[in-house]
Amino acid sequence: MATQFPIERFANLDTPFYYYDLQLLHTTLDTIVSEASRHDFVVHYAVKANANSRILTEVRNAGLGIDCVSGNEVRAALEHGFDSKKIVYAGVGKSDREINLALDADIECFNVESIPEMEVINHLAGLKGKVANIALRINPNVDAHTHQYITTGMEENKFGIGLWEVDTAALKAKELSNINLIGLHFHIGSQITDMAAFQALCTRINEIQRRFEEQHYRLSIINVGGGLGIDYEHPDEVSIPDFPAYFAVFAKHLELRNGQKVHFELGRSVVAQCGSLISRVLYVKKGQKKQFAIIDAGMNDLIRPALYHAYHKIENISSKLPTEKYDVVGPVCESSDCFGKEISIASAKRGDLIALRSAGAYGEIMASRYNLRPFAPAYFSEQ
Ligand code: LLP
Repeated sequence: MATQFPIERFANLDTPFYYYDLQLLHTTLDTIVSEASRHDFVVHYAVKANANSRILTEVRNAGLGIDCVSGNEVRAALEHGFDSKKIVYAGVGKSDREINLALDADIECFNVESIPEMEVINHLAGLKGKVANIALRINPNVDAHTHQYITTGMEENKFGIGLWEVDTAALKAKELSNINLIGLHFHIGSQITDMAAFQALCTRINEIQRRFEEQHYRLSIINVGGGLGIDYEHPDEVSIPDFPAYFAVFAKHLELRNGQKVHFELGRSVVAQCGSLISRVLYVKKGQKKQFAIIDAGMNDLIRPALYHAYHKIENISSKLPTEKYDVVGPVCESSDCFGKEISIASAKRGDLIALRSAGAYGEIMASRYNLRPFAPAYFSEQ
């Protein structure tokens, strides 16, 4: 499903801006809902990927739950009408204020990342006379084979409770009367394209489940996190990730007990392909060995290339001329403000519109005001 850019409409708009193809988002959401329901799986949208109000509304309308990692994300979920019983809340450093906010909202579940955090939630819930549902986030030590900055499930990462501590944590949870351990939570990383990593996660989950059963725990939720990757090279040809194949891995390899529900926390795969960052060429600067297309979007608008050397497909959507090679760079005073080197795009001139594709996830939400540049606004295919 290829995104069609309304060039005439764009002609009247100041750049840079984010543009969201809502038809693609709807189709993606419909696919997720129908494929997940085939297995009776529950999907929570990882709001950290994109918290744009319109996107949140679409996700809520599709009936997904929501996965939050801060008090403000919980607040945004509530403000956008998500049912508090479909809100889960993870994060290694939840503050007392954030925990209290989530307790007051009676959220579905806290994904607890350490024993000290479990004790604090127990204490704060006790003060309110409540019992909080928790799932233990376990660091399964499974290699996601993805970028080192976005792998999370290895022993050296800060996330979750280590495998050596699982039994202590399970015992501790029994002692605390204001928490109720209802599930296990895992997340091994992001932009995972190798399904074998998810299969390895399933195998590890099966082992860990058995350890909990030895301690007579009956767990109702197995939360496998998110991480399904997208095709950054082919945003139009592969605009919707292979959700059937992804869910099938879990359906096949997870050993579930009676009544147990599998939860997913998908972020990137839900929203990445529906968003593009649209920019204009300010100058074409010819050097002796190369030429630069200097555009009016910068690393403050989309930081992924500078931060992770991430690839985003770049297109000149104003030109049908033969391609030339450019280093496509932004205006920010940093050499890392570069979206791609030696990139082939249709021959560019001042004023041409440039699309940075697959920017719907971890794009707008990671923007900053660096160099005192304003936040780029967002526009939608449906007004
Ligand atoms: N659940 C947990 C506990 C997470 O930490 C994350 C992402 C997700 C779910 C959603 O993962 P997804 O389905 O989007 O892969 N800023 C980086 C990505 C950081 C991901 C952090 N955690 C990037 O731009 O690539």
